[in-house]
Amino acid sequence: MDDSSPILLFDSGVGGLSVLAEVRKTLPQAPVIYAADLAGLPYGTKSEAEVAARVCGLLGRMAERWNPRLICIACNTASTIALGMVREVLEIPIVGTVPAIKPAASETRSGTIGLLGTAATIRQAYVDNLEAQFADAKTLLRHAAPGLVDAAEAKLRGRPVDPAAIDEAVAGLRRQPGGDEIDTVVLACTHFPLLQAELGDAFGPGVKFVDGAQGIARRIAHLVAGQPMARSEPDRAVTTGPIERFESLAGAFRACGIERLDKF
Ligand code: SIN
Repeated sequence: MDDSSPILLFDSGVGGLSVLAEVRKTLPQAPVIYAADLAGLPYGTKSEAEVAARVCGLLGRMAERWNPRLICIACNTASTIALGMVREVLEIPIVGTVPAIKPAASETRSGTIGLLGTAATIRQAYVDNLEAQFADAKTLLRHAAPGLVDAAEAKLRGRPVDPAAIDEAVAGLRRQPGGDEIDTVVLACTHFPLLQAELGDAFGPGVKFVDGAQGIARRIAHLVAGQPMARSEPDRAVTTGPIERFESLAGAFRACGIERLDKF
């Protein structure tokens, strides 16, 4: 590994920018490549086998091409399905993004936590284990809100957020038995923090949101502590999808310090 070896942040789309923003604050000097599998988006409605095959295949090829010092899978769906498999095949540190149930369990005062994720994420055994480990004495209500993935992608392209997607997500938690008691909501998809303002308005006052981005940035900083870092070229973002679809996200990437957009 040389000084310019990047941290590779990987997501199905732009949700990982919520993680990148935190990584920037913690490690401003770190060379970064952001990879968005827009050709595979959305992951949340795909089968486990399909997501695992895509993520393992793409990360294997990307690791070979860029020799990253660390990979962050900045996607809850991909992490809860494929983190273990990726760690088995790649011999570099792999940081995953998993639902922030532990911090939510410390935050809640009512004892009732809501969790918004993709359909694939909310059914994972990984989430059952986190619940059993950290929220056994709490009530955890889960809801799949796939409409929020598209809404977040639209927002970052400067398009209006569909209010129906926000309302559906909120109602999906509130209408469950005990849903009125929710005071803490886990945003278990990296796209969802991008809609925190809209979700906050819809839930109303008194509801806190918890996501894993700060914890992930701290974990990455810990794993690369003491390593020399120097950029040999500007940071960039790559996509597996058509570059035209990517270019409408240029403003969102620029806000995270990335000027160069390429096709993978
Ligand atoms: C998606 O591709 O459906 C969203 C992925 C995620 O962050 O869970």
